[in-house]
Amino acid sequence: MKLEQFAMERMQSTYENQVAFNLSESGVHPLRLGELVDDSASRESLLAETLRYTQSNGTAPLRLLIASQYPDATPDSVQVTNGGAEANYISTWNLVERGDEIVMMVPAYRQTWGLARAFGANVKEWPLLEAAGPAWRIDIESLDRLVTDRTKLIIICNPNNPTGARVDAPDLDAIAAIANRRGAWILSDEIYRGAERDGRETPTMWGRSDRVIVTSGLSKAYALPGLRIGWVVAPPALIAALWSYHDYTTISPGALSDALARRALEPARRAQILARTRRILNANYPVIAEWLAAHGALFSHAPPDAGAIVYARYHHPINSTELVTRLREQKSVLIVPGDHFGMDGYLRIGFGDEMSYLQNGLNRLHDLLLDIGAAR
Ligand SMILES: Cc1ncc(COP(=O)(O)O)c(C=O)c1O
Repeated sequence: MKLEQFAMERMQSTYENQVAFNLSESGVHPLRLGELVDDSASRESLLAETLRYTQSNGTAPLRLLIASQYPDATPDSVQVTNGGAEANYISTWNLVERGDEIVMMVPAYRQTWGLARAFGANVKEWPLLEAAGPAWRIDIESLDRLVTDRTKLIIICNPNNPTGARVDAPDLDAIAAIANRRGAWILSDEIYRGAERDGRETPTMWGRSDRVIVTSGLSKAYALPGLRIGWVVAPPALIAALWSYHDYTTISPGALSDALARRALEPARRAQILARTRRILNANYPVIAEWLAAHGALFSHAPPDAGAIVYARYHHPINSTELVTRLREQKSVLIVPGDHFGMDGYLRIGFGDEMSYLQNGLNRLHDLLLDIGAAR
């Protein structure tokens, strides 16, 4: 099996802890362990955890907490994984066979794109449209044209990375209707659900067809990427099959991570964490929006509905990878080039970190724009 390089992750893995200002992240500033385990009883109980192989598909209480977020889901509809990345991996590995046709929303997080191609699928791209407003929207007619009786899987990312766009219920129903007509599965990566700036939760694809797989996790909306907790929600028969795939990847989540995830997903704690995320998004987005506006005609972007990212188009004749490489080498700031989403001419900038960190990173980006003659 030949894997194409997952360009964005390779760049982040290599440089994210080397640069002075990492604005390549899509989530908000992570929680500290002490913020999650913030009283003596919970500290004691964490210290008493046995560092065993915990329940391999996730403990029953954790799966119950996850299932409660999806109408009519039960713990048997849930597989806990090591990050959203493993959730996407085992789902794609299980479903995609050589020669399959896959239709995928783009731009999007490229993991399933790269995996499906590695597993021998023909991946057809379904582009989001940049409409007046500006706003990103889906084009149902073009999906209808792309999906055929040979389509095994439709992959969407909602809310979307990198645009931050939210797809609402009528559009999700329209996608489900097309999938149902053709007998296709839908894989909906919903890891940014709960990170909406306006606090209106993105509707889930779950329940709109019998062949829906939702992947998600604690890395984005919950600001807990270091726990490496993700999940798949799918019909129980598929979950049973995925569990045996998980035997070949990581066997089980970490025992401490499972325990901490249970704590994060208790209803009151969950609400508190999501409120913190929203507070950061709403404090920081105006800072980057003003910065982009101050650069006048150089940038245009659609305000993101969710996630701590803007996906900005720039109007200057320089390749996005070249711009990002110069920014990293000369100013020690990391952002993501549109090239990593197959779209030159764009930059994805994360705005979820602490305010002064964000401002410093943006100042250095301004300096680079001066150096290359793109700003005055
Ligand atoms: C859409 C999407 N899915 C999955 C992941 C991977 O998540 P995790 O860090 O939980 O493995 C990311 C990370 O950037 C993402 O943006």
